[in-house]
Amino acid sequence: MIRCANPLEQYNSYKEEIDTAISSVLTKGNYILGDEVKSFEQEFSDFIGVDYGIGVGNGTDALLVALKACGVGPEDEVITVSHTAVATATSIIMSGAKPVLVDIEPNFYSIDLSKLESAITEKTKAIILVHLYGCPAEIENIKKITKKHNIFLIEDCAQAHGAVYKDSKVGSFGDLSCFSFYPTKNLGAIGDGGMVLTKDDSLAERCFELREYGWKERYSSSTFGWNTRLDEIQAAILRVKLKYLDIDNKKRKRIAQMYKELLDDSIIELPKERKESSHVYHLFVIQSDNRDSLMEYLHQKDIFVNIHYPLPIHLQPFYKSILQTKELKITESIAKKILSLPMYPELLDEEVEEVSVAVNNFDLG
Ligand SMILES: Cc1ncc(COP(=O)(O)O)c(C=O)c1O
Repeated sequence: MIRCANPLEQYNSYKEEIDTAISSVLTKGNYILGDEVKSFEQEFSDFIGVDYGIGVGNGTDALLVALKACGVGPEDEVITVSHTAVATATSIIMSGAKPVLVDIEPNFYSIDLSKLESAITEKTKAIILVHLYGCPAEIENIKKITKKHNIFLIEDCAQAHGAVYKDSKVGSFGDLSCFSFYPTKNLGAIGDGGMVLTKDDSLAERCFELREYGWKERYSSSTFGWNTRLDEIQAAILRVKLKYLDIDNKKRKRIAQMYKELLDDSIIELPKERKESSHVYHLFVIQSDNRDSLMEYLHQKDIFVNIHYPLPIHLQPFYKSILQTKELKITESIAKKILSLPMYPELLDEEVEEVSVAVNNFDLG
């Protein structure tokens, strides 16, 4: 059996170091916001190239903290895409604002710049820019638009740890950026985790307050906040895995290169890479006009593929009932064609070959 993602294999790769890190937390006895969270916040913000990291409970909360730090609330609008994890829109709803969903461009699955400006209104407070599948979005031009209209730019980097756009890591461009450490991510915990990053002193201060009851000082809420602390054990595990993130991303890129050489691109469409940027292949997403039968055929061969995501957010029952978004042509058409092939650093060459041969033979029936 070949899995689509495999966090257990990743644990096995670094088992000794991870076990030692966990037991050190257990014996130190400081279980909430201790040295591990502090050190990981420093190390991960250094890795991305920003000044502050605020460890939180998960990626959805990272987005919510970022939105709240920008002062987003009821009456505001936040622009993002419909072709993303539902969490991107969830965070906007949780902030009290209205998600405004814009279509994507077909090559890199990121927001269509030509449709962005017409979606901006007087109520627009922020844009959440998603770097989907590990591919950086067109950040530079989007930043020009957010500057021109004086709106906040929040990067959703949940699928793009270590991806580079024009010599800088994604997550270093926005007013704030948000990461998830869900176990299958390029940098994954063994449970939930997330982080907000920023270079801005006052936004950082607000994020620290928001993640813990609005406290500047313990037991005194100077502003609104709740509890979304990053767990000390998860931080210790993430510190171990961060040391290997560049190596693991290189392995993903090598696997992507192998797929590109082995797969027959006359029957499927291969993922593209944006110029002057480095794709970190959180997912290796192909397109096929016969996606559903290809998926079933691969499952019968014990090759587990997945769809990220089968139903755009604006067509999901809850969001459909509250948003009334107009047709999003590209989003709706690619949702019927996309398929994520197995992709994780520990995937063996023979397995990449097996998947490729199976896909190439699909048409032969
Ligand atoms: C693009 C994107 N944004 C946000 C999230 C939310 O992260 P979490 O699952 O840690 O809340 C995810 C994770 O699934 C994601 O892929």
